[in-house]
Amino acid sequence: MFCDLVGSTARSTQLDPEDLREVIGTYHKCVADVIGSYEGFVAQYLGDGALIFFGYPRAHEDDAARALRAALDIVHAVPCLNSHGQKLEVRVGIATGPVVVGEIIGAGKTPEKGAIGETPNLAARLQAIAAPNAVVVSASTQRLVPQQFHYRDLGRHSLKGFSQAVQALQVLGVSDPKNRFDATRTASAPLTGRRAELAQLRGVLEACKEQGRGRAVYIRGEAGIGKTRLLEEFCRLAREQDFACHTGFVLTWLAALAATVANCPAVLVMTSRLELDPLDQAWRAQTGACQLSVIELAPLHADEATALAAPYLRVNATAVTRCVERAAGNPLFLEQLLRNAMEGAEAAVPGSIQGLVQARLDRLDASDRVGLQAAAVLGQRFNKAALAYLLGETDFDPQRLLARRLIRIFGDEFLFDHALIQEAIYDGLLRSRRRELHRRAASWFDERDKVLKAEHLDRAGAEAAPAAYLEAARVQAGEYRYDAARRLVERGLELASDQAERFSLSYLLGDVLYHLGDMPAALEAFDRALAVAPGDAE
Ligand SMILES: Nc1ncnc2c1ncn2[C@@H]1O[C@H](COP(=O)(O)OP(=O)(O)OP(=O)(O)O)[C@@H](O)[C@H]1O
Ligand SMILES: [Mg+2]
Repeated sequence: MFCDLVGSTARSTQLDPEDLREVIGTYHKCVADVIGSYEGFVAQYLGDGALIFFGYPRAHEDDAARALRAALDIVHAVPCLNSHGQKLEVRVGIATGPVVVGEIIGAGKTPEKGAIGETPNLAARLQAIAAPNAVVVSASTQRLVPQQFHYRDLGRHSLKGFSQAVQALQVLGVSDPKNRFDATRTASAPLTGRRAELAQLRGVLEACKEQGRGRAVYIRGEAGIGKTRLLEEFCRLAREQDFACHTGFVLTWLAALAATVANCPAVLVMTSRLELDPLDQAWRAQTGACQLSVIELAPLHADEATALAAPYLRVNATAVTRCVERAAGNPLFLEQLLRNAMEGAEAAVPGSIQGLVQARLDRLDASDRVGLQAAAVLGQRFNKAALAYLLGETDFDPQRLLARRLIRIFGDEFLFDHALIQEAIYDGLLRSRRRELHRRAASWFDERDKVLKAEHLDRAGAEAAPAAYLEAARVQAGEYRYDAARRLVERGLELASDQAERFSLSYLLGDVLYHLGDMPAALEAFDRALAVAPGDAE
């Protein structure tokens, strides 16, 4: 977020310098208070301007919403400040994207936190096109909170430093969604699957009506698996049976409520994510004789997920199939992936998932966070010894990551709980750190797995990568795995610039293609080898 006062030059000529200092001080304090109340971070003041981060130093799942609310508060508050008779107006621009945050050391100045990347520039440019006391956001920001605010589309603007015209939207105000999930998540598709769970919930309601005694139901599952959606459906069923529905968020009341519903015609339904189970033994002890049913929501079945994606199938069936596979039964992830794919950004991890994962990552201790980041470099599956090696430690204790359901046990290895968690963490790593970790991973796999060694060197951007691909391909070919060998040699050739390496790779490719029975291609590869042969011997 970039926010700036309107008309600073005029003010500086009209006000006594001491009064001006006071005005600016009051304004800075106002910005800092508002930003602080939404847990944002004022990184820099540049005269009347302020550069503000949401998502750093600590990410929240709803950082975009926090930023927009803070911005609206700022444009309401600043004109009311005491300003020695001056009219104070402010403009705010907000954009979303990856940035590198670090200390920027200016000549002779103390270091300040600065953000490097396109996003801060975009926010500053959007700020400049905002009307006084208006908030303007980029499409990348609006997409994260489409329902929670009212917008006016300002069309596309050519902004300095941006080669393509940029879509800008003015934030008009907060819309009033029923709850925070209606807000961030777009209009729901019809409920898919969950028949057994609904039958169970219907049974609970019927028993409650018959006996005049209720019970507590606890719906648990990972983020986005569909707890709130199921609860909505439950409320619909309950209303049909003339129950009144009430929603609350306060944990301490719940145990007492649970104890109460056991003796009156009421049902208490609670939802929670898996990672921080608040209903522990101590909680249960306070609920008296209340019966508690637990519904663990599993991922949707592939058929159900496909049904959920059906509206998109006609647009691009193969992309939809890939999204269904990648979402692995998580309806939220599926929705976000589909939306990304339809906008032509299929490969990227959607910003909303990135935010969700980043928030979970930021809640970890530093050592767990660093551990999980290194694990993400190893891939969706990893083992403890490799991870400890990457971290330069003798051992790594995965207990807390297991307890928080970020990873799970898979034979004698570990698996990220969801492939998208691994991808989002990997994407969030600085490239320099990522390369360093890949380099270490390559040396771990040196004698253990030539293929993984080559792939890690490749991702580390190492010069040794083509030679490693050659070595890995030789091993694969030696074991009659010619398809794998071919893939490795071809990747090696994409990277190799050294003539001797190109010769060896082309020669091996010819050999592999010969064994695969593709004679014309084999001949062509041998020809290419000959063309780069360093000497007569070759
Ligand atoms: N069975 C389903 N059929 C159709 N859509 C679903 C289903 N389950 C979930 N969805 C959709 O997937 C998205 C995520 O679901 P929901 O918000 O209920 O997840 P949640 O488990 O409550 O997540 P959180 O832990 O973040 O609260 C929503 O847009 C919801 O409408
Ligand atoms: Mg929910």
